[in-house]
Amino acid sequence: MASTEASPVRPSILVVDDDVGVRESFEAVLAKDYDLVFATQGPEALRILSSRDVNLVLLDIRMPGMDGIEVLRRIKELNEQADVIVVTAVKSLKTAVEAIKLGAFDYITKPFDIHEILALIKRVVEKQELVKEVMYLRSEVARDHRFEDLVGRNVRMQEIYTLITRIADNNATVLLSGESGTGKEVLARALHQQSHRGQRPFVAVNCAAIPAELLESELFGHEKGAFTGAIATIYYRLNVVPITLPPLRQRRDDIPLLVEHFIAKYDREFNRKVKGFSAGATAALYQYDWPGNVRELENVIERAVALAQSETVSLRELPLDISILGPETIEHIQKSGLSLREARNHFEKQYILNILEKVQWNQTEAARILGLHRNTLLWKVQRLGIDSRPHALTA
Ligand SMILES: Nc1ncnc2c1ncn2[C@@H]1O[C@H](COP(=O)(O)OP(=O)(O)OP(=O)(O)O)[C@@H](O)[C@H]1O
Ligand SMILES: [Mg+2]
Repeated sequence: MASTEASPVRPSILVVDDDVGVRESFEAVLAKDYDLVFATQGPEALRILSSRDVNLVLLDIRMPGMDGIEVLRRIKELNEQADVIVVTAVKSLKTAVEAIKLGAFDYITKPFDIHEILALIKRVVEKQELVKEVMYLRSEVARDHRFEDLVGRNVRMQEIYTLITRIADNNATVLLSGESGTGKEVLARALHQQSHRGQRPFVAVNCAAIPAELLESELFGHEKGAFTGAIATIYYRLNVVPITLPPLRQRRDDIPLLVEHFIAKYDREFNRKVKGFSAGATAALYQYDWPGNVRELENVIERAVALAQSETVSLRELPLDISILGPETIEHIQKSGLSLREARNHFEKQYILNILEKVQWNQTEAARILGLHRNTLLWKVQRLGIDSRPHALTA
């Protein structure tokens, strides 16, 4: 008799056994707490499993026709996550090992001990509940850490997510500000996506290309005669919600999350298997000031993933202005036993190369940054054998 206090969703078990006596014993023991479904043969069991979900399969090994091991193989093909407990009449280690190898949760021998089988089933159900909980928590964590394409769990970012969710459906004008590369455009797209206009196109306008006098009517439309001059100006102002994105150096706690995000992105894109950064490289990423913000971090990681020679990115794969501070570089130079002159040449070459790359090989700009005369720079480039290919030096 089913208890009225049983939880509303009872776990379900499919019992597969050709022996009516075994099926009846299972029914006597399990019917009180579980929903039972019976099959007398493998093909019937597979038909049932392809049409409904069960929490667990109790599977006999010795059956006429398709044997239990074959049924197990096919169950796993159908659903790799399915939990199966194998029931064997003879204590055969070989069969048990094979079943476990194929992904069975466990196995029991007939005649089975009621307490043993009940405990085992309880373990399966508890495991499934844990898996469900972990999946739920993971999705919660993921929601916490990102908003559409924006990654970041820093408090300022979280405040921005909340604000965006709240204002997405107002028609308020939002003024996004923040340094270059802080994610203004990504945020604007997220805001658009959240709004009731999400299905309509997102239009980016390069304001610098529009004369100031036309900007307002281009963006907001022209309201004939409604207002004039100062009054009309920025009416708009009253409706503007300002949001300022923090520069990356003010939310360094987001660096690990962003690094992980971009590694995954470029692993996928370049089909690489980079897993993380060495301790030295991680320290360098933390110390650096990131004037180009998230865009710069993304570029650095894209390059590092492309260059990485193993699963771990080392300082060598970071641009010199980032890696120069890291303890690994100094250690590397010390270990290599270079003379001071060699070490200085090595450093000078790397540094100049790095700056030249940064300014797209514009030597006037590079010389300015390095505090050198252009001719001196050119001389050093030749002396140190800095190879400008595939870029040509520009005047
Ligand atoms: N929070 C973030 N999470 C993930 N990626 C980000 C984030 N912020 C920025 N990015 C990445 O950095 C790039 C630059 O962001 P975006 O274009 O939004 O910057 P911006 O603030 O508009 O810069 P600019 O002022 O130079 O136009 C984006 O393409 C995106 O890949
Ligand atoms: Mg932008």
